[in-house]
Amino acid sequence: MIISENFSLKKYNTFGIEAKTKYFAEISLLDDVRKISADKRFVKAEKLILGGGSNILFTKDFDGIVIKNNFKGIAVDFETENHVFVKVGAGENWHSFVLYCIENNYAGVENLSLIPGNVGASPMQNIGAYGVEVKDVFHELEALEITSGLIQRFSASECKFGYRESVFKNKHRNQFIITSVTFRLNKIPKFNISYGAIEQELDKMGVKELSIAAISKAICSIRSSKLPDPKVIGNAGSFFKNPVVSSDLYQQIKNEFPNVVAYAAENGNMKLAAGWLIEQCGWKGYRKNDFGVHKNQALVLVNYGSAKGNEIYNLSQEVMDSVYEKFGVVLEREVNIV
Ligand code: FAD
Ligand code: EPU
Repeated sequence: MIISENFSLKKYNTFGIEAKTKYFAEISLLDDVRKISADKRFVKAEKLILGGGSNILFTKDFDGIVIKNNFKGIAVDFETENHVFVKVGAGENWHSFVLYCIENNYAGVENLSLIPGNVGASPMQNIGAYGVEVKDVFHELEALEITSGLIQRFSASECKFGYRESVFKNKHRNQFIITSVTFRLNKIPKFNISYGAIEQELDKMGVKELSIAAISKAICSIRSSKLPDPKVIGNAGSFFKNPVVSSDLYQQIKNEFPNVVAYAAENGNMKLAAGWLIEQCGWKGYRKNDFGVHKNQALVLVNYGSAKGNEIYNLSQEVMDSVYEKFGVVLEREVNIV
């Protein structure tokens, strides 16, 4: 393990923001973490665990140690009549894992195709897309507690999954390094094509017989048409969560704005499309210097090249203020701010 000092994170975040960290270490062995924990320089230092850097915004230099997780390996752990349990190292690329499942005919993650980032962050955020969330295929994970150096197992209920939420995003943030995740995949697929434009895309592709490979292809195609490729335009996907509001507030908004886009949520609440709210405030396609709001998807803030993290953060505040002023709705950032 090499520990670098005064290290640039520009290539390690998909926003492409220039920020430096005092220390940077790439870990691939449990022993690496134990070495970091035992090193006097890091006992009191702030720690930040990093995967693919696709859901993070650096607004300043980091005065601690960034620990980049490179734990590798994909293997079938065990099988039952209907399921295959696959254990995956946290440092594996998420989409490569999805492709592995498709090649082996393990169903369940095809709707989550092409989400950037690594497997270790997938339960942290409870990633979701096209009607599926990681919690739907999650069996358990192993995580190393940085202070004690001990490995703990977490079941789904212990992870306390919610919409883009888990215990690792809140109470345990940067205290545990997720080292592996075990997924429960189906031997017999249950196709989920009810969301948005999937069916239309499958028709366009001329698909006669449904398969997980076809669904994955359709989703890759929809995503590529809507979301900017971080290799071309810096971004971290949806910058905000879709806000969940009471049915009363929803009705008030609907009376004034009959076209509001909303979906039924738990406990009689409604989930509003934040992209629609932001677009209505006139932000879609906005650009100032090198920061802005994407022209095809108003939920995505972008860096055209040399934007600073705090410029994007300040823009996010302006967007939140305007949405609150127009609709009385409080947006919450989805991206992790450092
Ligand atoms: P990072 O950005 O490196 O880290 C994210 C957070 O997790 C940080 O707080 C970090 O400290 C923590 N973390 C990372 N690894 C670990 C670990 N091993 N142990 C403990 N904590 C850890 N997300 C969706 O849910 N659905 C989408 O459809 C979607 N689309 C996207 C499209 C684009 C173009 C982009 C750029 C992003 C999109 N995202 C989406 C967001 C992002 O891909 C996910 O949140 C992804 O899981 C982040 O993975 P990462 O490895 O890059 O995490
Ligand atoms: N919309 C607009 N204007 C916009 C964007 C969206 O009016 O600029 C409206 C449209 O009516 C559209 C609806 O919002 O039909 C929903 O848009 P979309 O299907 O693009 O999905 P989203 O709600 O904006 C969520 C997730 C995405 C995920 C997609 C597909 C959140 C915060 N975002 O976006 O996840 O890929 O659904 O399931 O829940 C991410 O988390 O980073 C992410 C990209």
